[in-house]
Amino acid sequence: MTDFLEQLQIYQKSVETALEYWLPGIDAEPKKLHEAMHYSVLAEGKRIRPIILYATGQAFGVELNNLDGQACAVEIIHAYSLIHDDLPSMDDDDLRRGRATCHKAFDEATAILAGDALQTLAFQILATDPKIKTNNSQRLKMIATLSLASGSNGMAGGQAIDLASVGTKLDIEQLENMHSHKTGALIKASAEIGALSAENVNPELFSCISNYAKYIGIAFQIKDDILDIESDTSTLGKPQGSDLALNKPTYPNLLGLDGAKKMADKLHYKAIKSLDVFDEKAKMLRQIADYIIKRSK
Ligand code: IPE
Ligand code: IPE
Ligand code: MG
Ligand code: MG
Ligand code: MG
Repeated sequence: MTDFLEQLQIYQKSVETALEYWLPGIDAEPKKLHEAMHYSVLAEGKRIRPIILYATGQAFGVELNNLDGQACAVEIIHAYSLIHDDLPSMDDDDLRRGRATCHKAFDEATAILAGDALQTLAFQILATDPKIKTNNSQRLKMIATLSLASGSNGMAGGQAIDLASVGTKLDIEQLENMHSHKTGALIKASAEIGALSAENVNPELFSCISNYAKYIGIAFQIKDDILDIESDTSTLGKPQGSDLALNKPTYPNLLGLDGAKKMADKLHYKAIKSLDVFDEKAKMLRQIADYIIKRSK
């Protein structure tokens, strides 16, 4: 376990150093926009998407150092999605990662622009980072993977389903569809981009990794919904009870807390099974799956 926590810290530190490198300086104009980007990205996040990306890349034999740009790209898309998720027209939340949300600390227009600028920065990094050592065709696949996962058929689409479903009762299939888009898509892309960072990817292994990430992605959002009920605001660093207050459709809402936990366990089992073809190299990925359903924040 200690090994695992140490490895998480190594990944977190790596991505944070790289994020500081890629974010535009706060002294450069337009300062307010750049400050807002820093404020949200460098706040204390778990960095789970970079962690999944690093662990997958390493399982495929890629050096940590050659995964930093890709790890930044997925974290930056995620940070943008959080800034927009918190806006008054969406979840209207005041607290994120233990601090005032971007639109509260700055203003709404700046928060929208910070999200916009972060989104394009992610693709700039994937397109230009010289530390990405694959050939250009693999690099293009990474860009395609991230764009598909972020757009209307991925995260943004999931957020649209989420907003359109407020106050309605989704069935289990519709709920899974929503979770797999709004949260699952970027988590799956994180693993896939990690794998694509290797020069030669065996298609069979790629599809096992993809399945693994599909299952943990949905489990991650189910756990997020459970924590919204069971945890507290100071642990979460975001307002507990937000889903209930907004009448959001969630797994605990549909299946009860126990039912939601059983569903997360089932997905965890499927994720671990998807890694059967891997040996010790996937140890970290297995531990990440455990962490996702056991975490307290
Ligand atoms: C929160 O994501 C939003 C979801 C997609 C569930 P995280 O729980 O990864 O948030 P941070 O990055 O640690 O703040
Ligand atoms: C957000 O889901 C998913 C995103 C794409 C940002 P939530 O609305 O449940 O995330 P939190 O609970 O605010 O972090
Ligand atoms: Mg939301
Ligand atoms: Mg929210
Ligand atoms: Mg939530």
